[in-house]
Amino acid sequence: MSNPSKSNSTLAPLCTSISSGRITSILVLAGAGLSTSAGIPDFRTPETGLYAKLAPLNLPYPEALFHISYFRHTPEPFYAFARARHPKNLRPTVAHAFLALLERKGKLKFVVTQNIDGLEVDAGVSVDRVLNAHGSWRGQRCLKCKVPFDAGRFRDAVGKGEVPICGVEGCGGAVKPDIVMFGERLPKEFDDVVENVLPEADMVLVMGTSLKVAPCSTLPRKVGGDVPRVLVNNEVVGDFGTRERDVCVIGSCDDGVREMARELGWEEELDEVWREAVERKERAVQAEGWDEENEPSLDECIARAAEKMKARNGVSDGHRRMLEGHLGEKMASILGRMNL
Ligand code: APR
Repeated sequence: MSNPSKSNSTLAPLCTSISSGRITSILVLAGAGLSTSAGIPDFRTPETGLYAKLAPLNLPYPEALFHISYFRHTPEPFYAFARARHPKNLRPTVAHAFLALLERKGKLKFVVTQNIDGLEVDAGVSVDRVLNAHGSWRGQRCLKCKVPFDAGRFRDAVGKGEVPICGVEGCGGAVKPDIVMFGERLPKEFDDVVENVLPEADMVLVMGTSLKVAPCSTLPRKVGGDVPRVLVNNEVVGDFGTRERDVCVIGSCDDGVREMARELGWEEELDEVWREAVERKERAVQAEGWDEENEPSLDECIARAAEKMKARNGVSDGHRRMLEGHLGEKMASILGRMNL
């Protein structure tokens, strides 16, 4: 599995260093490829990635789905995505379980994830060892008045593919989950990771990311030249392959972690951690009462949202409110000037 052409080293000596205790502080950077086998498409893989499926929504560009300035006036496409992609009924993968096993073995320094699905914590990684650099679904609040929004009402709206609207008297703003959209700042904890955690890492493990979005994409370059870097990804990305101690394990995250578990003699434990994590998530899904039966597909959710937008000539409620509000003021001042 390791790609000798792009690896200047191999997994075996690294796994020996992990087993022998020479490596004890692994910094992990995770991306969407870690969760594709949980049923969430990644973003940029041609044909299967999310951005390839958004055409019916007539977005100005695919990333607009996650851009705060677009969401502000047209949140409908995001909530079409949310209905099909909310992590409510997703199970952690064996690759997520491997991160929890690294922690159980005392080898995990920290996980920086670009994913918002929360599957690292669902798999058993401690909350204080994970930074959701792009936020998560764990909270939601009104975009306008910032008041937190009720989780049950949020779940109901997401389940229907509707935009949850703030209930505060006179507000009426659209509610947004606590994810970091393009145009928004990352949590300040990210700077803390760069300053205080990264320098203490004695290995970097990058999994399932195209390394296309800064500042997360800059992390692998920031570690010292003597720190071994392992990439587990369908393709070589970033500057992997340019350093003496780079190891590129080209293929799926699930296969890559199984190769590492084999080298480490952790295969049985990995399956046990994974089984426990999936059972725990199943219990949580039942307890929260998510309706898993009538789950429309992502394509269906996108088609329905596109229909709704077309019926309004592409103008969303949010956009209409904004225009009325804006035009209202303009009309009032024109009429005022005409003393009408
Ligand atoms: N196993 C290994 N690699 C995979 C797998 C898999 N099962 N599935 C996909 N990949 C690889 C793809 O080949 C690609 O290199 O994972 C990478 C996914 O890249 P992106 O789709 O760009 O996802 P990511 O890097 O997480 O995107 C970063 O962009 O849109 C924003 O905020 C969003 O957090 C996201 C950020």
